[in-house]
Order: sequence, then structure tokens, then C-alpha cells
Amino acid sequence: MKILVTGGAGFIGSHTVVELIKNKFQPIIVDDLRNSKSFIIDNLYKITGKKIPYYAIDFGDTLKLSEVFKKEEPRGIIHFAADKAVNESINNPLKYYNNNLCNLVNLLSLVDKFKVQSFVFSSSCTVYGVPNSVPVKENAKIKEASSPYGFTKQVGEKILSDFFKTLPNSSLAHLRYFNPIGAHPSGLIGELPIGLPSNLIPFITQTAIGKRECLTIHGNDYNTLDGTCIRDYIHVIDLANAHVLTLNHLFNTAENLILNVGTGNGASVLKVVNRFQEVNNIKLNYKFGPRRPGDVPAIYADNSLIREKINWSAKFTLDDCLEHSWKWENNLSH
Ligand code: NAD
Ligand code: WQD
Repeated sequence: MKILVTGGAGFIGSHTVVELIKNKFQPIIVDDLRNSKSFIIDNLYKITGKKIPYYAIDFGDTLKLSEVFKKEEPRGIIHFAADKAVNESINNPLKYYNNNLCNLVNLLSLVDKFKVQSFVFSSSCTVYGVPNSVPVKENAKIKEASSPYGFTKQVGEKILSDFFKTLPNSSLAHLRYFNPIGAHPSGLIGELPIGLPSNLIPFITQTAIGKRECLTIHGNDYNTLDGTCIRDYIHVIDLANAHVLTLNHLFNTAENLILNVGTGNGASVLKVVNRFQEVNNIKLNYKFGPRRPGDVPAIYADNSLIREKINWSAKFTLDDCLEHSWKWENNLSH
């Protein structure tokens, strides 16, 4: 069964392509590599042994994308392609509204025209803002977004839900990812941060390998056990598998779902740093700095709904994630 994967050369998209193939789906990648590199496509071939149809186009180019729909006739779409840097979105909101929302609307016109049955949207725990309590459930109150990026995920969900209500035979899922980390154990695909990373794990691995001098832990005076922020870090392959299970479910129902994808466990920044050093037997240069504006003190998932609906659970541990991220960094740098 053919699945169009926008952003299929990206961090989460590439791992999902591998899991789709393992589960007998046929992914079709649309990605113009604005945040990836062509060697990822080559490495997908090395991992899967399959030549995956790949279109290097902007998914917002409706004319070119129509040609792909005509040729490939996908039955489902997983829509990863988006811009995702929180800080950049504050400085350049139109870039985010354009790619994450205008292009999404254009994509949906083709969903209708080409009768695509099922659609999976990459949403984010960022839609919850600062939650009133943790673990956070899907029905938690959606607060005002703290960045244009977060706003595009809230509005993206709404646009899709409104639209799919008009398509009675189609099905939709919003997957709200918590903090995806890790990489493929082969070390052939992983996250490609462009420039100075703002996310924790690439900053750790780049510091450990000597690309950065020192990791700054943003704040150790939070009301948590060790004073540092708590997140729900999830291995990217576990996240990829959630997409496969979701698609299987969507093809058998006409449901519209919202699912948290997180392990259900919170880990503090200091715990991640300590486990990284222990698992990889390496000393990390780090210091404590002030809080980062906009950071949520603690957030992790209530994942009972995704367990119940699609029988998903995380298989990889935090240690696995940190071992695989380190292997990826080593392969990237050598
Ligand atoms: P990524 O940047 O690695 O992957 C996105 C891919 O989409 C890139 O390869 C990029 O080249 C491509 N792309 C972007 N705009 C495009 C366009 N107009 N046309 C064609 N290709 C385009 O990001 P990721 O981490 O894999 O994230 C995937 C999705 O998951 C995004 O929607 C992101 O907002 C969401 N998400 C990510 C995280 C995270 O921490 N990584 C957390 C929650 C949600
Ligand atoms: C994790 C923790 C930092 C870097 C972001 C987006 C969110 C979602 C996932 C897309 C925090 C601390 C980090 C550093 C540090 N993406 N940290 N030193 O902020 O939870 O979420 O990515 O939807 O929308 O906001 O992830 O990896 O940036 O930070 O101490 O150099 O690590 O303060 O506590 P975050 P992150």
C-alpha cells in the first residue's frame, strides 16, 4: 500500500520510512532537502535494500505535487514536512505560517481531489504549553501557544479536523510527539541539526565530540528533584513505529484520533547528561546557566490512550537512545 511521506528525508520521516518498509508499506518520499541531505536517501537504500521512490520537490508546489499523486496514487499520507525551530519562528513567523499552514492547506486540496483515505499529522506536545498537571492527557486544556511554531501545530490540527469532518470515509490522526531523540542503530540515519543546535541531545553529542566547548544546562533552580527541567524523551524508532500502527488502525476505521506519543517517563536534563556519560563512557564538559525563556519546567505524556487504541508502547530505553545518538554523531563527524 502506497504512503506519501512528506519530509521523508528528515529526522523522524527517514526512520518512519524504514519502519514502513519493514511493515510492507510502500513509502513515496517528497522532500526538497531544505533541512536534510541527499546521503540520507542513499543510506535509506543501504538500510532497507529497497529503491524508494523519491521526489525532490517543495510539497507546497501543488502543480508538481499533483503529478506525484497522479503517478503514485497514494492511499495514505504521513505529513512530516514543516519548519520546526522554535526560536526562528519567533523571529520569522511568516516563514512558519507559510510552510506549516499555507502549504498544508494546499496539500489538503489534493487529499480531496485524489481521494486519499488516511492522513497522519506530525503534531507536538508543544500544543499543551505549560500544562496544569503532569502526566498530560490528550484532553488537557490547550493554552495560548508560546511561539509561532507552536501556534502552527495548534492551528494545523484544527484545519485538519475541520476538513476531515467533511470527508466521511477518510480517517485522520494527530500524533503529538514528546521529545524524539536517538538514531538508527546502524548509525546511517539520524538528526541533522543545521548550525548551532538548540535541542539538548545534539548539543550534548556535539560537545562530547569536540565541536562545541561546553554544554550549558539551562537552569537548575526548577521545582523538580534535581532542579533541572523534565521531558519525555522517546526513541525515534519507537515514534516511527507509532506511525505504522496508526496507519494500520486508520485504514480499518473512519476515526479521527489525537494521540500522545511519549514513553510516559520524565527524565531531567541532569539525568540525561549523567546517563550519556555512563552509557558511552565519556566525560562531558557542562556547566549550569540561567533558565531558558519559554521553557516548560516539566512535561511528560499520559500514554494510556495510544496503548489502548493501537497497542503501542516504547521498546527502547533512555540508555539505548543515548548510545544510538552517540554512534550517529561519531559517524557524521568521521
Ligand atoms: P526535520 O527538519 O528533520 O524533517 C522535516 C523534513 O521536511 C526535512 O527533511 C525538510 O527538508 C523537509 N521539508 C520541510 N519543508 C518542506 C517543503 N516545503 N517541501 C519539501 N520538504 C520540506 O524535522 P523532524 O524532526 O523530522 O520533524 C518532523 C515533523 O515532526 C515536523 O512537522 C515537526 O514539526 C514535528 N515534530 C518534531 C519534533 C522534534 O523534536 N523533532 C517534535 C514534535 C513534532
Ligand atoms: C530539552 C531540555 C532545555 C539545550 C523542543 C520544542 C518542542 C518540540 C521538541 C517540536 C530543556 C534543556 C537544551 C541545551 C539545556 N519540538 N537544554 N541545554 O525545549 O523540550 O522542546 O523540541 O515540536 O516544540 O520546543 O527540547 O531539546 O530544546 O530541550 O539545558 O543546550 O534540555 O532547557 O529543559 P524542548 P530541547
